[in-house]
Amino acid sequence: MIHIDQTKQIFHLTDSHFSYVLKVHQGKLLNLYWGAALAHADLDYLVEAIRPGASFELTEQRTPLELPTMGTGWYGMPAVQAQNADGNTLTALTYRSYRLLPHKPDLPGLPHVVDPAAETLQLQLIDSLTGLEVIVSYTVSGGGLTRSLSFSNHGTQPLTLTHMASASATVSAQGLDVIHLRGAHARERQLVRTPVGQGTYAFDSQRGASGHEHNPFVALATPHTTEDSGQVWSMNLIYSGSFLASAQVRETGDTVLSIGLNPAVHQWRLESGAQFDTPEALLVYSSQGFNGMSHIYHHIFREHLCQSPWNHRPRPILINNWEATYFNFTEEKILQIARAAAQLGIELFVLDDGWFGQRDDDHRSLGDWYVNTRKLPHGLKHLAEQIEALGLRFGLWFEPEMISPNSDLYRAHPDWCLHAPGRPRTEGRHQLILDLGRPEVQQFIINMMKETLSSAPISYVKWDMNRNMTEAFSAVLPPERQMETQHRYMLGLYHVLEEITQAFPEVLFESCAGGGGRFDAGMLYYMPQTWTSDNTDAIERLGIQYGTSLVYPPSAMGAHISASPNHQVGRVTTMQMRGDVALSGNFGFELDLSRLSAEDRVTAKAFVNRVKALRTITQGGMFTRLISPFEGSNYAAWQFTYEDQVLLCCFRKLNEPNPVPHRVYLKDLDEHAFYRDEAGHTYSGAALMHAGLPMTFFPQHDFTSYVTVFTQQKG
Ligand code: GLA
Repeated sequence: MIHIDQTKQIFHLTDSHFSYVLKVHQGKLLNLYWGAALAHADLDYLVEAIRPGASFELTEQRTPLELPTMGTGWYGMPAVQAQNADGNTLTALTYRSYRLLPHKPDLPGLPHVVDPAAETLQLQLIDSLTGLEVIVSYTVSGGGLTRSLSFSNHGTQPLTLTHMASASATVSAQGLDVIHLRGAHARERQLVRTPVGQGTYAFDSQRGASGHEHNPFVALATPHTTEDSGQVWSMNLIYSGSFLASAQVRETGDTVLSIGLNPAVHQWRLESGAQFDTPEALLVYSSQGFNGMSHIYHHIFREHLCQSPWNHRPRPILINNWEATYFNFTEEKILQIARAAAQLGIELFVLDDGWFGQRDDDHRSLGDWYVNTRKLPHGLKHLAEQIEALGLRFGLWFEPEMISPNSDLYRAHPDWCLHAPGRPRTEGRHQLILDLGRPEVQQFIINMMKETLSSAPISYVKWDMNRNMTEAFSAVLPPERQMETQHRYMLGLYHVLEEITQAFPEVLFESCAGGGGRFDAGMLYYMPQTWTSDNTDAIERLGIQYGTSLVYPPSAMGAHISASPNHQVGRVTTMQMRGDVALSGNFGFELDLSRLSAEDRVTAKAFVNRVKALRTITQGGMFTRLISPFEGSNYAAWQFTYEDQVLLCCFRKLNEPNPVPHRVYLKDLDEHAFYRDEAGHTYSGAALMHAGLPMTFFPQHDFTSYVTVFTQQKG
């Protein structure tokens, strides 16, 4: 809901979870409040308190600006900044007008929250000297608030946008912690929580992808905030490229939280008459701790963001041949694995890297997307048909954004990659990146994907991206636009994804970037699932999946049973443990099924059946974290709640001598109802939540799990 008090010039964006209050004061747009829901936004008294405390101070440095700009008294992070034609970087924005739209307009060319019925508030601010106009759009949707900026140059001179933060808001609580998800390849999205003091806590990506190192998500919480209680203020950027997120504690003790394009790599030249739209940010406030926050993100991403027809469909159980064969396979080997998969009841075979060009290792052939007839002598169609005849669907791996220097495509178009004249072209995994900002490159990818997907019964695509940008400059842009290359790439990528996903609505797309190097809401808009990490070890996955769940729903996470010893860390675990971790995500296998022991075959088949029975709960249920695997914890636990069923998943890393039966406390149950587990034990909801369940169920060895379904009893 959006309430507007025209006399006081107060804009109140609210629902039952939060309020966000803006006020126009002396022509400036103030961010007066963001926090628990207010019945009335009668906050004018706060404005009176905004004044310098000493003669040395300037009023602006104390003012909670909604769009802070540098150079006129605000000494914090700017949200908006332009370099003007005369070279100075002063941008003085004055509020002009508002518009209330009865719907949420599309954000053309960029992924965004879709909620046609939600009202949108648009505020217009102008720099009257230069003619720069900023329209800030806000929509209250699904428990969160979206914000984006649209710049127009109404002046006669060109200017260059240097700062374009999609969101920037002041949190006036003091002594806060910052929370975010950091990592690296194969250890993505580890939970970080640390106090912030006066100064700037910032993290970013300059990689041209959201990246393994940091996720485009930042939150503040009080030191007492837990999974279930306390306040959290958070922001997520619906974007898959470079970004900057920061929490800046100012001299006032207030914290400015912001997220948006990264000024280090993103600038945009705005000619007279031109317009530029930023990506959309999603702001989520919770007074019910981190689980409360995650529930809102999961709901918005599932109900208002992901556009795939597969979003709410049961996701197929798949077998991927990557860790089974790597590049070394033949048609017969693939069919052998597929036959074993069919016997287990697996639904989809995914042929990973190595099926095209001369691709026998990662040194060549990206760009040459025609079948490698030495490995697959009868072609893709024949292979796909044989797999379909076994009762499985067929899926295929692509890495369309890339080009190997050793490829026919590179020999034909050596200037199609990102590069800078006279500089070496830095290779990563022996490959370069195509300049997706170029229309002819976009069209090449669109045509290639359309042709390949039409050439055989292909039901699934794994869309990979296995290196980050270097020399992120373009052969087709003029010097003054070179800093647009990264964002133009993203716009090109989104255009390509839009075209292909629209043309093949029945194909299930899974995003991947060396595992979870582009696990973000931007990709989730087009593709309902992402390969969570190249690390498939069950113990490592506890942290990766737990951390990922802070923002993204389990229905977005790919999770597979791989071989033991594990290929990334060498750990030996039972298939039971590996399967219990994988069943929380989009379940699959990633090992040579034709070589399973008889015992593992039985376990694998049992998992396939169990996942078919449980996936309504795991993919459609509400996910709640119970025990964190971080901070040295030996345990992890979470649950899914769906209608009258609760799926409890508990894990113990190492066995303990003389163990103390730690308890797991379930959540979100009906206190007065009774719940029966699969072993036939019945407990009241109140007992499970308040007295807890002693975790005596773990077998006596390392790396163990316990998964059971509680069903609420009728009457
Ligand atoms: C990336 C992916 C893997 C696999 C390989 C193939 O690393 O994350 O799952 O597809 O590429 O080269």
